[in-house]
Order: sequence, then C-alpha cells, then structure tokens
Amino acid sequence: MQLTITKPDDWHLHLRDGAALNTTVAFTAKQFQRAIIMPNLAQPIVNTALAAAYRQRILSALPASSDFQPLMTIYLTNNTSVEEIRQASQHKDVFAAKLYPAGATTNSANGVTDVSALSPIFEEMQKCDLPLLVHAEVTDVDIDIFDREQAFIDKYLAAIRQDFPQLRIVLEHATTQQAIDFVLENHHTAATLTPQHLLFNRNDLLAGGVRPHNYCLPILKRETHRLALVKAATSGNPKFFLGTDSAPHATEAKENSCGCAGCFTAHAAIELYAEVFDKAKALDKLEGFSSFYGPDFYQLPRNKQTLTLSKESWQAPVNYTFDSQTLTPFRQDTPLQWTIK
Ligand code: NCD
Ligand code: ZN
Repeated sequence: MQLTITKPDDWHLHLRDGAALNTTVAFTAKQFQRAIIMPNLAQPIVNTALAAAYRQRILSALPASSDFQPLMTIYLTNNTSVEEIRQASQHKDVFAAKLYPAGATTNSANGVTDVSALSPIFEEMQKCDLPLLVHAEVTDVDIDIFDREQAFIDKYLAAIRQDFPQLRIVLEHATTQQAIDFVLENHHTAATLTPQHLLFNRNDLLAGGVRPHNYCLPILKRETHRLALVKAATSGNPKFFLGTDSAPHATEAKENSCGCAGCFTAHAAIELYAEVFDKAKALDKLEGFSSFYGPDFYQLPRNKQTLTLSKESWQAPVNYTFDSQTLTPFRQDTPLQWTIK
C-alpha cells in the first residue's frame, strides 16, 4: 500500500545546538519542508537577534541539497519586553513566542514564574498577531503530574483565552481529553499532537518495567486520553495538526537514575503518524493533519512538493551518533510499519 501526500511540516521541534545539529537537522529536513524550532536551548532564545543567529547555525548544518526552512520562535521570560514582541513579530524569520512555566520541562529554568504578569506581552502579541505557543502544565509540587495539563488550562489558559480573544494560541503537545475539549470550545485555539501521545499510554512507560525512551513531558496519560487524541487527530478538524516534539537527549541522559524528558522521534516521524492514522482507518485524513492545517493556522502557504509513504516494515537502529554520545530513537524496540519511498 502506498500513500502520496503534500510534503509535511513539523510545528513543534527541538533541534538543540552546536554539534547536536549535525545529527538532528538532517533527520527533520529529510521529511519535513518546515519546522517550528523550539527556543529552549541551555541559553534560551529570548530575543529576535538570538533567533536569527540560531537560524543561521541550523542552516549551516543542513545537507547541501536541502531547502528545509527553520521557522524561529522566541522564549518568553519574566523580562520579555513589549518592544521585543514588536520586533519579533516584524522579523521575517520569527513566527511565534513560546510560554514555558518555569521548571515545567527541559531547559525551562528561565521560564515564566507569574503568568498573569505577562498580560502586556499577550496584549502586544494579540495586537501584532504573533501566535502564543504554550507548554500547558503547572509546576506546583502539590499537583499530581498526571493532572498538570488540566490544572494549567483551568488556572491560566482559560483566563488568557478570555482576556485576549483574538490572540492565536497553540496548546502544544496536547495529552488529555480536557485539552482537546478546550481547543474545540475556543476560537483561535489549536493544538499540536505528538506521535508518542497518539501511539502510547502510560502503561507503555511504566508497566512491566520503566521505559525511559517513552518518558516525555507532558507525561503519557491513560488510554481514554490517548483515544481522545486519536479521535481529534483523525477527525479532519483543522484545529489539530502535526507537531512531533522530537526532543533528543543522549542515551545516557535518558537511561539514568534521573532521566531527561523527551522522545527522539524525528528519525521516523511521518512514519509513526501514518501508523496512527492507518490503525484508526483514517489514512485519508493524514494529509490535512500533517500538511494543510499547520500552515493554514500560521497563515503560510501550503507546500508544493509531495512525499510518498509505503506500508513496509523496517527496524530503527539501536542508536545514532550524537556528537560524542549516542541517541536512542523512539520505538526502537518494535519494527516501524511505514516507510518513506
Ligand atoms: C522537551 C525537551 O527535551 O526539550 N522535552 C519533552 O519531554 N517534551 C521539552 C518540552 O517540550 O517539554
Ligand atoms: Zn517540546
């Protein structure tokens, strides 16, 4: 069985920096035309100048024949200025700003500690029509890790949505029924969905042994939530589109007594999504999800090129070289079902 679709884009991607780019960039450029590049480097990309310089480093790591386009974002902090938002929105290579609650995930120490203090920033983003990308999890130690997404929606996101009705918001890597409902109920609100949250539930992380390569944030949830995500992804609703959240960490940082959060999926991203849509008998909905609704939301043209997938099984290697370390790909232990022609 074969399937040809318009070339997809990845609307949520971590490439890292330095020598890591020599591994990460080529995987994404092989299958995606564009990607929204997350700004959570060890030194976060907090302004347009840093974003422009990071973009150049990504382009330098591209294979010569590639015309892949990195779409840059800036990282909101307690100190982000209204002027910086204005500059970012006017720059041709910056497409969004990302809100990380401080401490929510990898490299979020410089994130926002008081979301409500950011009102002037959200006001300016609304005015400039710069999309707000949200890592929607509270960090309160007394909130159970499985409830953190819903708690963020209730405590913060609902208020942002209400106060800035024209602001375009992406609830990144949605993992719960509540997130899906929130997106469905609100205008100018979309969500990215990852392959790991569409394929796996929390048993795949914890039952029969801890599987560190399935550990990411937001954490995998129970099966009812996974089913809600699959339903949303395969519904043909343009509010839901592809964002891998591919987040490489060296094997030894994952297989560790305190392992890092993040699944590296870029080696087989569209193949993993094809498997999800195939299992849901919704392959006809894959192209909209992976290639149309993202650019439509970001008000960018759809891609012209195509990509052909075929239902042929293959096995990802045990690991890839990752600077002086190794990188273990997601779903390494089970054959992948789809392959790129
Ligand atoms: C991401 C990372 O490693 O940068 N990790 C993850 O588990 N998804 C950060 C993020 O998107 O939360
Ligand atoms: Zn991410």
